[in-house]
Amino acid sequence: MKTKLYGVCYYPEHWEKDRLSEDIRIMKNIGINVARIGEFAWSIVEKEPGTYDFSLFDRVITGLRKNDILVIIGTPTATPPVWLVKRHPDLLQKDEMGNTRHIGSRRHYCFNSDRYLEYAEKITEAYAKHFSQFENVIGWQIDNEYGCHETTVCYCENCERAFRKWLKKKYANITELNRSWGTVFWSHSYSNWEEIDPPLKTVSDVNPALWLDYQRFSSDSAINFHKKMSKIVKDYSDLPITHNLMVNFTEIDYKKLSSEIDFVSWDNYIPGEYDHDLQAMNHDLMRSLKDRKFVVMEQQPGRVNWRKINEFHKPEQLEFWINQSFAHGANGTIIFRYRQLPYGSEQFHSGLVDYSGEVTSRGESFKEIIERNNKIEFNYPEKEIAIYIDYENFWIDRTQGINNYFDLLNNGIFPIYKAIRSFGYNVDFVFTNTDLSPYKLVVVPSAYYLNDSFLEKLLTFKGKILITAMTSLKDENNNIKTEKSKLFYELTGVKIKDFGGINTVEKLVYNNQSFEASYVCELVNATDAEITGSFSSGVFESSPAVTKKNNTMYVATVPNLKFSQTLLKMLGFRSRKSSGVEIVIQKDGSFLILNPSKKKISTKVFQNELEIEPYQCKQKISTD
Ligand code: GLA
Ligand code: ZN
Repeated sequence: MKTKLYGVCYYPEHWEKDRLSEDIRIMKNIGINVARIGEFAWSIVEKEPGTYDFSLFDRVITGLRKNDILVIIGTPTATPPVWLVKRHPDLLQKDEMGNTRHIGSRRHYCFNSDRYLEYAEKITEAYAKHFSQFENVIGWQIDNEYGCHETTVCYCENCERAFRKWLKKKYANITELNRSWGTVFWSHSYSNWEEIDPPLKTVSDVNPALWLDYQRFSSDSAINFHKKMSKIVKDYSDLPITHNLMVNFTEIDYKKLSSEIDFVSWDNYIPGEYDHDLQAMNHDLMRSLKDRKFVVMEQQPGRVNWRKINEFHKPEQLEFWINQSFAHGANGTIIFRYRQLPYGSEQFHSGLVDYSGEVTSRGESFKEIIERNNKIEFNYPEKEIAIYIDYENFWIDRTQGINNYFDLLNNGIFPIYKAIRSFGYNVDFVFTNTDLSPYKLVVVPSAYYLNDSFLEKLLTFKGKILITAMTSLKDENNNIKTEKSKLFYELTGVKIKDFGGINTVEKLVYNNQSFEASYVCELVNATDAEITGSFSSGVFESSPAVTKKNNTMYVATVPNLKFSQTLLKMLGFRSRKSSGVEIVIQKDGSFLILNPSKKKISTKVFQNELEIEPYQCKQKISTD
């Protein structure tokens, strides 16, 4: 989509009929040019099996068309209607205790229910056939947030059967499966496929290999469901298809899913304690999935409804959130939601229009933001530094670990990401098949399983390489490698002799400074590498903590923010900016400066001394 999209998530089905003209007037006045509709409207459109009534949406889409407002259609399979569930309760998911996840909220269906698939295909076909007729429909969002509310993994009988089929395709025979999973341990050996169950709740840790395969199967189930729905839409429309991805979400392999969508879209919500770098990291990940511009399909305008404390956000802050998304590669922002709703389980969610139908301060703010945002030339971020990820490592990270307080995304990846951004460098996320040649540095943060093809790539990579602890610890079955691959040794020059979780504070000395080791430390034998830092306390005192071989640095612990910043310096990177602002270097040679705070900031970026107003974004034409 070339046009910059400024939109709303619009639910005309929630209001009395005569609101359409007033809503359109408000949307036009704000400067809105697109509305996403329909993703929860199954029971409106199909009140009983096979009888479709599109009249409400026809009136809405026509009204929007007459006012040059574009439409993205959300297909409604995330909320199967009551009549369907009551006819076919076996479409409901089950949790690891075998309890049914009941209807009454959403996302209650199982990806592997053939019965559900039959109805989902029919409603998706009805939507595609009908709405593809409208000239202002510009794209499709299939379903809504696969896996939200912890529904990626289902443990029902449909999944049990489908999992056994999935395993038969993966393993040549049951002997091969038993060997790969190490089922001789604790008498888990299977004599046939029918004996294999999903990893239901067990008294102690379940077999890590079984668990990893079940995550793979669950992620594949969501993606296969998407492919079926997407195929149906494509039978009726050649308009682009997307699915709205989620912040910090690692239960589904988004890299795999991104091959089944024409453009990436995601829902930009603050997942926990607010950190503008965390939102930026998610933007950079979403851009990296297809290495092209994406759409923020849901942008919170202020308070949400689903947090323990749903705080108020100043309407001005929306400007930073939107500009930050464009700076990191968005070409559209769609506010969730257009109007606050006094009933249902999202009553406290803010919107651009309040419960009474009046425009809120956020609606006013959005109008001004659109005007200013439109004047900034958001080009596309330059490729500078890369962080390697593989979704399977997020799944391995959830099985038994050396330090079970360690979280790969938040503790292994984010501190290094934050350190790179604090120096003012752009970050791309890279995957096994990404071309690494444009990058100055590739970081491999605690990649438990690192396949040889990527190691081979690193061996010919001309830039710098930073690898941190626990990388290449595991094989593809989530079993500990009896010895690391020859390629790992060739790249790093180190052999890992032992390891341990850090319970107290362990220190290390690097570049004549003392740092804290975090989460784990490894006993390293630097047989073919220079030792540039050593542990100065704890069980591995005086053994190597940082080593260097050619262009590759190995760190035998998990570097925190401060240590990561020093590692970057030692790798030859210097900060381009003073603290407090974000900068993004653009491919056209210009750069953007963004102020995430509510205060005016005086700052220095490259050689430019400048002031920037709260929440604002500035563009500078060149970095000199
Ligand atoms: C998610 C969903 C929306 C809505 C918002 C609330 O992103 O996609 O339907 O529930 O959260 O913030
Ligand atoms: Zn299931």
